Amino acid sequence: MEKKTYLGLVVRETEEKKYERAIEELAIDGLPAGDVLVKVLYSSLNFKDMLSATGNKGVTKRYPHTPGIDAAGIVEHSGSADFRPGDEVIVTSYDLGMNTSGGLGQYIRVPAGWVVRKPKGLTLRESMIFGTAGFTAALSVLRLTDFGIKAKDDVLVTGACGGVGGVAVSMLSHAGFTVTALNDLTDRRDYLARIGAAQVIDPGEFIDESPRPMLKDRWTGCVETLGGGVLASAVRSIRAEGAITCCGNVVSGDLHLTVYPFILRGVSLFGIDSQNCPMPRRIRAWDMLAGAWKFPWLEDLASEVPLAGASGAIDRIRAGGHQGRIVVNLWN
Ligand SMILES: NC(=O)c1ccc[n+]([C@@H]2O[C@H](COP(=O)([O-])OP(=O)(O)OC[C@H]3O[C@@H](n4cnc5c(N)ncnc54)[C@H](OP(=O)(O)O)[C@@H]3O)[C@@H](O)[C@H]2O)c1
Repeated sequence: MEKKTYLGLVVRETEEKKYERAIEELAIDGLPAGDVLVKVLYSSLNFKDMLSATGNKGVTKRYPHTPGIDAAGIVEHSGSADFRPGDEVIVTSYDLGMNTSGGLGQYIRVPAGWVVRKPKGLTLRESMIFGTAGFTAALSVLRLTDFGIKAKDDVLVTGACGGVGGVAVSMLSHAGFTVTALNDLTDRRDYLARIGAAQVIDPGEFIDESPRPMLKDRWTGCVETLGGGVLASAVRSIRAEGAITCCGNVVSGDLHLTVYPFILRGVSLFGIDSQNCPMPRRIRAWDMLAGAWKFPWLEDLASEVPLAGASGAIDRIRAGGHQGRIVVNLWN
């Protein structure tokens, strides 16, 4: 008989600004309308999932809600000619896990336009070790390499122990770039060296709060994930004709700069939006992650929790200090 219910992590608002999480049995019929029903085998945890699971209304407006901006699994039913039952697929971003029931449930139903066919070079589990964080790292590196930054150039990666940063350090070092990693906990030097960082600096020695419009030029490229003073210092430290990507706001959403890095050094600043990334670039990034940028130590970045362990892992992300990527096994 066809399955009618599934297990999912549900976040409920119990009173103003109080949120509780529990695994609940949910009805497949209760999923939103959509073309493709996917049995989710793996999900992963990102900074945004922590925000959704802890009541951040900038991410999730209505509760009860099942978070999970990432899902990888098998098509169970498709109303779209593009997908058939049995296809292995990846669904990340758009509204998944924000206000659409997400990958921390054993089933999702989504529009066909959100679905990416899993590339051959990745398993479903590996695709979730990357997840949105890895995909965002790939979009950032695509921007830099399309711009003309080349292997052997030196590149700064900030938030280097985090999801986006850790994958960016790994991909870039695997591709031959010389990577400087910035992270606030410098006792992670061994970890960062293992994933390919040639040197590690801490924000204390890097962030320059002075009004100087430009700093010593040190890097040709930068994958910046933290925002605020880190982004402002990084832009001012890029060499002439270099480029920097901006994807995050962990430190701050503010940015105080002058125009001088742009008009005197020709520095280019690229914004990265993984959520609404057009499908051709989305497929290109996943193909790179499955091919030339798939580094041999991918498994070393991963830890795995069952669905029942997702809530505790979300608390650890909130507390800070975790490293690498957390994969959620939905059926374990
Ligand atoms: N634009 C997009 O499409 C997109 C997509 C994905 C993610 N993002 C954003 O990118 C950012 C990073 O995401 P993520 O998934 O990599 O997050 P994450 O795994 O939680 O990593 C965050 C990193 O920031 C570091 N950090 C935290 N507070 C810091 C501080 N005050 N100073 C210096 N470093 C600090 C953490 O270091 P410690 O834990 O060692 O302290 C960690 O390395 C987030 O803002 C996220 O929302 C954007």
